[in-house]
Amino acid sequence: MKKCEQLYEGKAKKVFATEDKDYVIVSYKDDATAFDGLKKGVIEGKGAVNNRMSNYLMQYLSQNGVPTHFVEELSERETVVRRVEIVPLEVIVRNISAGSFSKRYGVEEGIVFDSPTVEFSYKNDDLHDPLINSYQALALKLATREEIDSIIAMALKVNSLLKDYFLKIGVKLVDFKLEFGRTSDGAVILADEISPDTCRFWDAETNMKLDKDRFRRDLGGVEDAYREMMNRVFGDNNG
Ligand code: TMP
Ligand code: ASP
Repeated sequence: MKKCEQLYEGKAKKVFATEDKDYVIVSYKDDATAFDGLKKGVIEGKGAVNNRMSNYLMQYLSQNGVPTHFVEELSERETVVRRVEIVPLEVIVRNISAGSFSKRYGVEEGIVFDSPTVEFSYKNDDLHDPLINSYQALALKLATREEIDSIIAMALKVNSLLKDYFLKIGVKLVDFKLEFGRTSDGAVILADEISPDTCRFWDAETNMKLDKDRFRRDLGGVEDAYREMMNRVFGDNNG
């Protein structure tokens, strides 16, 4: 599929039109930001890791009944996806306390929950993505009740599939963020990406952080962590 004009440039990806209005091409960058864009940097090779890992996981989810935007991987960094209108909600699922959950509720990181939590943030840069509940999202007409119910059900299904998948490769899935989109025919499908940028991954034995927290918290070994996750998913030869 031919890449046409650039439609959008985000913090970590660019999006290009194609000749078909139902498809776009995403191009993953090595640029990294954190804390609402206040911290900026480059994680060498990140774009390729996130592209390949996200595509692999999206295909795995599709095969297990979760509809996704994935269509075709074009190259190391570029992928054709269904064009969607993003529902302006960041959907965060947590299995273990960490990050903003620990901070907000004053608890240590590492508490394993009996059942996962689901929370939403309103995707709005001017407002710095505030936490929002489903009633408030409905009031603001960000999504319908049916869409919200289906988003929660899909997010929990993604969690149970990915939690099991990652445990088999020695990784605890601590928490992650999903985004969903509406297709031209009104279906809600999983969009955006699933990668070390958008998930917390801890080594199952040592609890070593294998995700973007190494960048956010200046822990060092950022590129190594992304490479390690790539190796766990694809095997050491990256094939
Ligand atoms: P949090 O603990 O900072 O709320 O993050 C929860 C999860 O969501 C974590 O895996 C990182 C991911 N996340 C994003 O992908 N994008 C964001 O903008 C934020 C704040 C978190
Ligand atoms: N990527 C987000 C930002 O730039 C936040 C994060 O992942 O920590 O603000």
